[in-house]
Amino acid sequence: MYETQIIDLSQAFDRGIREGAELIRQGELIAFPTETVYGLGANALRVEAVSAIFAAKKRPGDNPLIVHIVDREQAFALAHVTAEADALMDVFWPGPLTIVLPKRDVVPYEVTGGLKSVALRMPDDPAALALILAAGVPIAAPSANASGSPSPTTAQHVYADLQGRIPLILDGGPCAYGVESTVLLLSDRPTILRPGVITPEMIAEVIGPVEIDARALSPALEGESPQSPGVKYRHYAPRASVAIADGEGEALQRTAAAFYDRSIAAGRRCAIFATEQSCSFYGSRNYVIMGNRDNPLSLCRNLFALLRDADDDGFDDIVLEALPPASVGLAYMNRALRAAAFHVVRAEDLGL
Ligand code: TXA
Ligand code: MG
Repeated sequence: MYETQIIDLSQAFDRGIREGAELIRQGELIAFPTETVYGLGANALRVEAVSAIFAAKKRPGDNPLIVHIVDREQAFALAHVTAEADALMDVFWPGPLTIVLPKRDVVPYEVTGGLKSVALRMPDDPAALALILAAGVPIAAPSANASGSPSPTTAQHVYADLQGRIPLILDGGPCAYGVESTVLLLSDRPTILRPGVITPEMIAEVIGPVEIDARALSPALEGESPQSPGVKYRHYAPRASVAIADGEGEALQRTAAAFYDRSIAAGRRCAIFATEQSCSFYGSRNYVIMGNRDNPLSLCRNLFALLRDADDDGFDDIVLEALPPASVGLAYMNRALRAAAFHVVRAEDLGL
């Protein structure tokens, strides 16, 4: 057991980075902010340190970790960097794009879940970059939540999940994007394994056509071995039962409202995750505003935090609004569908 310390980087940036880097060098785990979600980091080149990540998160050992780096030299040292990858790094790094490449021998198989590839990412966050630089080693880091719960977008979320299991959390405030990086597999057919705020269109502009893994919007089938092992595990799931209201415009709003009314009639506590466009429709029903439908990023930014809040408030049911699954809307729907365990309701399902 640790007495988990939180260092507020807005008050003590240099001390936080120094103490964090020292712990990483000693083989310990620490949580740190990135522009996407908080990460739970360890020295990527030390097997015991990496193994401790899986234990702290209760994460299955075959679900590989992303290695966070601070410069291009580290990428060349860890992976065989192709011309395509190089072009993508020029445009999107530092930033929320993770690139999966053939690994070099220095990367332990414990990091990659036994795979011959390694996922690399250069985060666009001053604290994350300063930490990797000061530690002097690449940092393997999954999202800093307990396995299965929503990814943490504040230091308080990390504390709620991991207090006592890690010595230090660096608090950099709320994350800018609130949704994890795009994961891109670079093989003969470049494939987005996990959609994010770097969209298929943005990637295609640099390297040409890119495929989207079928699992981005549908569950992994029983016994199937997906290209990204992470997709087969239940993800982002709050305790409340979540449904997604599908449809467009007023049909969608009627569906969400009817779902809510049924839940209340059954004696359950329900919350609607509304948008600026729809909230007036819901009237006196209990809703929170996630963001603006024309700006899917605003919904991404709040989704995980609101799911945690709803659990803290003891809600039984949550109903989310569907977005068209394109561009950043694809990233939103990927997370929303997993939070809802793929439970989608349409007007006709409710007899509307
Ligand atoms: O934004 C992010 O990516 C955050 C921050 C902390 O950087 N990290 C993050 O890590 O979301 P994690 O472990 O929660 O998700 C990593 C995803 C998983 O779905 C995993 O299966 C996939 O990346 N992945 C990692 N290495 C892979 C590989 N070699 N091949 C295919 N998929 C890989
Ligand atoms: Mg995760």
